Amino acid sequence: MTHRDPTDGREDKPTAYHDLERQLAGLCNDERDGIANTANMAALLYHGLPDLNWAGFYFLSGHELVLGPFQGKVACVRIGMGKGVCGTAAARRQTVIVPDVHEFPGHIACDADSRSEIVVPLVQGDRLLGVLDLDSPRLARFDKEDGAGLETLVATLLRSTDFTG
Ligand code: SME
Repeated sequence: MTHRDPTDGREDKPTAYHDLERQLAGLCNDERDGIANTANMAALLYHGLPDLNWAGFYFLSGHELVLGPFQGKVACVRIGMGKGVCGTAAARRQTVIVPDVHEFPGHIACDADSRSEIVVPLVQGDRLLGVLDLDSPRLARFDKEDGAGLETLVATLLRSTDFTG
């Protein structure tokens, strides 16, 4: 196979994210419902990316983030703006990559197995809608290629979906 990483037999990350982006575009093609599309995206990522123990969304409600569709163990429901990795990414409106959650002050531990995390904000125009959050039991699971790939996927989601509320 041309796009395989010889070190672990998996696709290289840009190719893997490109494939996921095509699948997401297909899933959202005839559907603009926010819950349906984020639920399918959480499942697509959780089952399509290696070494994850949680993948899902938090949506902005007032001054808090509230749990949305996800895959993985039960998670904390409300996160204040600026709190934890999710609240930090939301407040900064920037992707945050945490190689070791034990080194991130204020990290909110929903699953003791989580060792690294990436959070990508959902921003439509000048409106913050929420965040996409992925956790991994592997240290330093996420890098800039994951950030770029997930930002592309989030852009596809935002183009394809009507968010209400
Ligand atoms: N660890 C996150 C909380 C959400 S869970 O990981 C699903 C944080 O610090 O914001």
